[in-house]
Amino acid sequence: MASLTVRQLDDTLKRLLRLRAARHGRSMEDEIRMILREAAQETVCDARDLINPPNPALAEPRRASTGSRAEPGLRSEAADRHRLVLIVGGGIAAYKSLDLIRRLQDRSILVRCILTAAAQHFVTPLAAGALCGNHVHTDLFDPKSEFDVGHIRLARDTDLIVVAPATADLLAKMAGGHADDLASAVLLATDKPILIAPAMNPQMWAAKATQRNLAQLTTDGVHVVGPNVGEMAERGEGGVGRMAEPLEIVAAAELVLHGTRLLTGRRVLVTSGPTNEPIDPVRFIANRSSGKQGHAIAAAAAAAGADVVLVSGPVSLPDPPGVDVVKIETARQMLQAVERALPADVAIFAAAVADWRAEQPSDHKIKKQQDRSPALKLVENPDILSTIAHRQANRPRLVIGFAAETHDVIANARAKLAKKGCDWIVANDVSPETGVMGGDSNTVHLVSAGGVENWPPQSKGDVARMLVQRIARSLKDLDAAGP
Ligand code: CTP
Repeated sequence: MASLTVRQLDDTLKRLLRLRAARHGRSMEDEIRMILREAAQETVCDARDLINPPNPALAEPRRASTGSRAEPGLRSEAADRHRLVLIVGGGIAAYKSLDLIRRLQDRSILVRCILTAAAQHFVTPLAAGALCGNHVHTDLFDPKSEFDVGHIRLARDTDLIVVAPATADLLAKMAGGHADDLASAVLLATDKPILIAPAMNPQMWAAKATQRNLAQLTTDGVHVVGPNVGEMAERGEGGVGRMAEPLEIVAAAELVLHGTRLLTGRRVLVTSGPTNEPIDPVRFIANRSSGKQGHAIAAAAAAAGADVVLVSGPVSLPDPPGVDVVKIETARQMLQAVERALPADVAIFAAAVADWRAEQPSDHKIKKQQDRSPALKLVENPDILSTIAHRQANRPRLVIGFAAETHDVIANARAKLAKKGCDWIVANDVSPETGVMGGDSNTVHLVSAGGVENWPPQSKGDVARMLVQRIARSLKDLDAAGP
């Protein structure tokens, strides 16, 4: 093919081309090649759709091949909409994914769809394509899209990838980094957030291999919604394994997409980390809390638009962005800082406060003495959560405690809810084998007067985002109910 020479273009056009090439990190020549390639592809693949789009309201805007947003000046209403790639795995729940496409579109989300080979036993590309108004992708070596490294574009040119249903096989492939079909290749190639909605038989869900894969995926930052408890497709079988309902998946997707301004205008107070209680100038009583969960909650609340004060004990974590951090050492200092930070709409007590302190810390280093160990007399620290929850004035509308337990998690959490007078308890099992203390994932139960919700194992970041979403919903309900 003849080499490219760019002449007779007006200066504005040349400038725009230069700008576009720079933005994509290409030479002018490569950029023009890319534009020609896209145009040719469009003619081959989508010409009919361009003349008569299957669903004009949902047709995707033309985008630069690597860009995540439409070019300036070409912005349309659609360019401001979120884009999502939906990967449908092969399970009976695949039929719900057709409804999911609809629900996502109701929220103005642009959907592109990938069906695995197994998924096509349950839903057809024709049905999925008719609903999402786009070509449905099924093949890693699809001549229509592979021309421009199709799976890489699918992986990158989106805001979120949702896998629903996520079968045991897909989870295993994801956890193992396989890439032998379009779905797994896209999942491996993406740098965008991934949300999975697992669905499988309860025994497959409970299998050690599946739980191992799930733990790996949550550690890798994959978001999880469901599965729910319910009846299976197989007659008479029930348990944990039903795919989350389409609306639940949409809510989870929206949370990942927006982090939204769910808490704009709200003031949120969070405690985090351990407290250190001095014995003498060099020794103290501490615990194993890393502060990861509390800090993640503060970060998620700030990302959701709240004005956040984080009262933190000594941790080796960076301050979450956009958060006002008050650093303290002891329980009594934490209580003081918390009281100073009031009023707040919500207070979340994630700190592992030392229950006791030395009654009389020495002001000099205690020296070893022959044949006598020093006696350490302990006194109880103030209970910060209980103090704030029982306030008459300035009580936050929502007071949330944590319960770190090693046994009888739910029973102990219920007892704490009553004793401390808070509205919710986020209960978690911190036995050493769970790896929760200091680890990156958590399995929690939300305990309130209304009952117990068991949340799936997920990263501490996801627990934080889910909690923020629940808090936002609850504050809205409280607003509606009036003072
Ligand atoms: N808490 C607090 N002040 C304390 C002790 C605990 O604010 N002096 C808060 C924690 O931040 C958490 C909740 O109370 O939100 C429960 O903490 P946890 O350590 O699980 O329970 P304890 O009250 O300490 O009871 P126990 O150690 O007997 O389980």
